[in-house]
Amino acid sequence: MAKLLIEGGRRLNGTIRIGGAKNSVLKLMAAAILGHGAFHITDVPAIDDVRTMVGVLRSLGVQAFLQGNELHLSVNGVHGRPPERLVQSMRASVQVMGPLLARLGSAEIALPGGCAIGTRPLDIHLDGLRRLGARIEEVEGRIVAKAEVLKGADIVLRYPSVGATENILMAATLAQGTTVIRNAAREPEILDIQEFLNRMGAKVQGAGTSVITVHGVPDLGCADYRVIPDRIEAGTYVIAAAATGGQVQLLNVIPHHLEPLLRILTAMGVPIEVEEGIVRVYPAEELSPAQIQTAPYPGFPTDLQPQFTTLSLKARGQSIVRESVYDNRFGYIRELGKMGADITVSQNRAVVNGGRPLWGTSLVAGDLRGGAALIIAGLMAEGYSEIDGLYHVDRGYEDIAGRLQALGARALRLETG
Ligand code: UD1
Repeated sequence: MAKLLIEGGRRLNGTIRIGGAKNSVLKLMAAAILGHGAFHITDVPAIDDVRTMVGVLRSLGVQAFLQGNELHLSVNGVHGRPPERLVQSMRASVQVMGPLLARLGSAEIALPGGCAIGTRPLDIHLDGLRRLGARIEEVEGRIVAKAEVLKGADIVLRYPSVGATENILMAATLAQGTTVIRNAAREPEILDIQEFLNRMGAKVQGAGTSVITVHGVPDLGCADYRVIPDRIEAGTYVIAAAATGGQVQLLNVIPHHLEPLLRILTAMGVPIEVEEGIVRVYPAEELSPAQIQTAPYPGFPTDLQPQFTTLSLKARGQSIVRESVYDNRFGYIRELGKMGADITVSQNRAVVNGGRPLWGTSLVAGDLRGGAALIIAGLMAEGYSEIDGLYHVDRGYEDIAGRLQALGARALRLETG
């Protein structure tokens, strides 16, 4: 167990290089199950979710080694089923279902875990796989899927779910015939999977738009690949810079992936400069309040909502944050209240009365992005904050204490046994 001790009130200053996208690499790892041979994936974030996925792949007979930020996979025979303990610790492990079904004709996995941020059903994943010909049942808390053969189909998603789009897309690569996924999620990570699968020999087109077409092929090989930059890690540091009135340059970013955030911050008065691969944040004189609503890409990302809400505490006046993707993603607000934050939540709407000082105190992170928000609050507050439950944050941010220190923050990681 670990906690983070922060002395607030210091501006972040300096340069940070953003790592590869968690929400992409986990799916690339799942996609590798469809192929054969040796994979070398670079810019892999050294985070706990990647380590969990390494465990999932090993349990399926894949040789997997993470060395620094490089991942080596060797895929030959694939067999077995992922242990319940691993699947329950990370929702992304459900992404092995489509690939296993396509590769082996059957898949059995425990109902997945992940962040406690509201209801996260799997109906869209399962309906899509059924449309490809799978028979799926829930047996004692496990999902059991079987298909002698998968056949291409025209599938309309009732909502553009990221995970469901990816699961169906991966399964369809080895199906007979052509699959069309309509109302598909358009997140940049889906384009990354398309590129990766196509390098393995798949025939996927349209990712990044809401219609994806997959022409099935009989088998897939391997690929060397560099993961796209993590737009959520980048957005978190952009917000941390703005929240402390700092001056931070971010390298290895794709600025247009961050557009929904950068547009709002600019409107709030944060000076931002963008160049190819680079975002620079400068100190703001004063922040204006804002209204945002989370939405599927290219809308404002739900994974930056908690960090943004925290930043809006600095803007004098009333900001409004609507969460439209998940139904319970305001858990961190109770913790912010302990620091003196004035935020009222009713259903999926938070009203933030900003402009008052925050004071440091003991806080507990309850999920990954909520944890990141509490760290930003600790940086903004007067005095010391202690953030417990750091394991949530370790799932998705590589060495957050070290990176904040490198930007001049006083942040100390304490191992508590
Ligand atoms: C992914 C990201 C997560 C991000 C989310 C939305 C990963 C590992 N995680 O999660 O960080 O917050 O996209 O951008 O990539 N839904 C259903 N039925 C389904 C599937 C989803 O009702 O079968 C609902 C969910 O409950 C939720 C919404 O759709 O309310 C969005 O979920 P989805 O896009 O599937 O998110 P994830 O892929 O789980």
